[in-house]
Amino acid sequence: MKCEVKNGIYWVGAIDWNMRDFHGYDTPKGTSYNAYLIVDEKIALVDTVKGGFSEEMFMGIREHADPAKVDYVIVNHLEKDHSGSLEDVMAAAKGAQIYCSTRAKAGLVDKYGEKWPINMVKTGDTLKLGKKTLRFIEVPMIHWPDSMFTYAEGDKVLLSNDAFGQHLATSQRFEDEVRANVLYDARAYYANILMPLSPIIAEALKKLPGLNIAPEIIAPSHGLIWRKDPGRIVTAYAAWSSFRPKAEAVIAYSSMWGLTDMMARLIAWGIMNEGVDVRLYDIHASTLASIMTDLLEAKAVVVGSSTQNNIMLHSTAEFMAYLRGLRPKNKIAAAFGAYGWAGGAVKEIDDGLKAAGLETMEPLAFKHIMTTLSEDDKAKCVEFGRGIAKKVKGGLQ
Ligand code: FEO
Repeated sequence: MKCEVKNGIYWVGAIDWNMRDFHGYDTPKGTSYNAYLIVDEKIALVDTVKGGFSEEMFMGIREHADPAKVDYVIVNHLEKDHSGSLEDVMAAAKGAQIYCSTRAKAGLVDKYGEKWPINMVKTGDTLKLGKKTLRFIEVPMIHWPDSMFTYAEGDKVLLSNDAFGQHLATSQRFEDEVRANVLYDARAYYANILMPLSPIIAEALKKLPGLNIAPEIIAPSHGLIWRKDPGRIVTAYAAWSSFRPKAEAVIAYSSMWGLTDMMARLIAWGIMNEGVDVRLYDIHASTLASIMTDLLEAKAVVVGSSTQNNIMLHSTAEFMAYLRGLRPKNKIAAAFGAYGWAGGAVKEIDDGLKAAGLETMEPLAFKHIMTTLSEDDKAKCVEFGRGIAKKVKGGLQ
């Protein structure tokens, strides 16, 4: 597939249509591994593709150059989805030199020994290809300690590796060519992969203006390329990394016999009646990734569970572990649930929300061995929702 990103910069990646689980994160739309070939007096390949997808990458390279003629291989990031075909590339391009960060070199030597010439670069270093010059920008922890961007200076194309990507498998290569809401997919990617790195990302974004780069195109290593107003995705990252919330609440819960489900819907009713948007997820019927995608921008997270064996249901426990790992900030949180003979889940959730560093409200729990929610209980659920909504609105001021 021929795809010129701009002036001799070509997409030569691979599309993984069937990727459904990207190291534990649901990816229902597949993904792509984007590598880029830059053709000038010298030829540079920026990143490779996941192991097993080399042939697609080589087909792309052959459209523009003999793979044996690749002079430089830029390793922006070591993770296997980008370096998994490096061995195949270096076997084809026997004279090629690798350029990467100091940490990436350590990883490459750890895996492959000293068999290839490796040049370490730091922020501001450049590599001249002829008319084109590549500039390197270290961005540690976006996504690993070794990560860096490569910027094609004259063409103003930022090859941003994991930053600004989306897990999408598509025939098109540019964001402006599809009708899908790519910003939503970029949010899902951010929420489920990059959220815990937000403080580092926020700092890195603040430094970008001082680096004198003004990208007209942002070409990540997953999904679609931002060509039309690429500032949109940078602005979105600034909001996400600083946990700038919206007047939204996410309710995630699991229910055994329906009472906790009823509580969840009544709480949602109370939240909505105060004019705050709410999304309600039965954890059993949802993917954790979809819940987190909404939770990223929400001001409130409300978690519920029935009690089983004195603890929360296992699906809620899985959600709580996933939530804690992603380290959301600047949110209020509340626990709720119904139980029969003995409780336990609501306190466990409340403790977990506190341990996750979230500001918690007084939880709401009801005991009903055989009965259902009374009218008084129902009113309390609605009032609980109203209280959450008021805290949301107050927290946005
Ligand atoms: Fe797309 Fe951190 O790998």
